Amino acid sequence: MTKCSLIFVLFFIIFCCTTKAKIHSSQYLDREISPTLISQDDNADSNSLLMSRYKRFLLYRERRAAPSGQKKLKSYKFDLNDTTHNQALIHWSGKNSSVIFILTRKKKTVSGGGISDSSLWRSTNYGKTYEPEWKKFDNKTILNSYFVCPGNISKVIFIDTYNNCGRIWVSTTEGETYTPYMLSFSLDKIEFHPEEQDWLLGYDKQASVLYCSQDLGKTWSKLQSYVTTDRYFWYVKDVDTIENSTSIVHFEYRDMDVFPGRTFLVKSCFIPNCDP
Ligand SMILES: *[C@@H]1O[C@H](CO)[C@@H](O)[C@H](O)[C@H]1NC(C)=O
Ligand SMILES: *[C@@H]1O[C@H](CO)[C@@H](O)[C@H](O)[C@H]1NC(C)=O
Ligand SMILES: *[C@@H]1O[C@H](CO)[C@@H](O)[C@H](O)[C@H]1NC(C)=O
Ligand SMILES: *[C@@H]1O[C@H](CO)[C@@H](O)[C@H](O)[C@H]1NC(C)=O
Ligand SMILES: *[C@@H]1O[C@H](CO)[C@@H](O)[C@H](O)[C@H]1NC(C)=O
Repeated sequence: MTKCSLIFVLFFIIFCCTTKAKIHSSQYLDREISPTLISQDDNADSNSLLMSRYKRFLLYRERRAAPSGQKKLKSYKFDLNDTTHNQALIHWSGKNSSVIFILTRKKKTVSGGGISDSSLWRSTNYGKTYEPEWKKFDNKTILNSYFVCPGNISKVIFIDTYNNCGRIWVSTTEGETYTPYMLSFSLDKIEFHPEEQDWLLGYDKQASVLYCSQDLGKTWSKLQSYVTTDRYFWYVKDVDTIENSTSIVHFEYRDMDVFPGRTFLVKSCFIPNCDP
């Protein structure tokens, strides 16, 4: 086990009843953890409950880590002073990267409500300090979420709900710089290909349409309508073994040709034109 590859960062955000959110982050050595959504619920006690859970978790980690001798937990606290947001989406790139993204969002309280405001913070020092990123975006940007390429942490895509249609901001520099692309549809979710770093599946939840891109989001083609939420995936290594299998996409969709449109079919096809 190499030491460096095992340094990971843990976060905790407290949303106070006032307008402050505090970020607690700690370095520790463990397996990778995936992006985390932290959401404030209506229960006034939830913050202290979360905090005590978090403390217990850290204690547990520290104890477990202690025997191997090499580990010392480092914690930082940082105030995101200006936020009135009630959710935070946090991701540390991992793999020797000192970059951490925090996207705080204001989610409308009505059920199914969208994101009405957000701000992006970025740390380049393992969470000691964070810089607001708004200067790198235009002022109509409302970032909804973001997705990091599993094979290359430099590649990050942020989804924006600009003018209620789609726009994405693509970074190939771990957030140093971003390039915006306008889309004619909106995206809710992006799925990176397991091997090809620039291949993406994009899903428009409201329209139930699945798209793909082979140039990191610059151009897209439509694969299928009426695709079931979360029921689509890229080719599976060692299972899909036919020629060109890396460009296979599997998904479930509703066959509207069969009345009354309640027939669900599973389809596999080749990108970009969904050839059988
Ligand atoms: C947050 O507020 C504290 C105290 O007012 C200040 O020391 C700190 O620099 C502020 N942080 C940011 C990111 O503005
Ligand atoms: C992290 O960096 C160290 C030294 O620079 C290197 O040996 C190691 O392979 C890197 N780990 C990863 C996951 O990139
Ligand atoms: C956005 O920026 C433009 C030009 O800098 C400015 O005219 C406009 O008022 C700004 N809009 C908002 C909502 O801040
Ligand atoms: C990750 O992407 C960057 C930017 O495109 C590229 O320069 C770099 O070589 C890539 N790294 C890997 C490991 O593929
Ligand atoms: C595999 O891809 C290559 C290049 O796109 C194409 O020429 C070939 O016909 C494909 N093979 C099959 C079986 O689809």
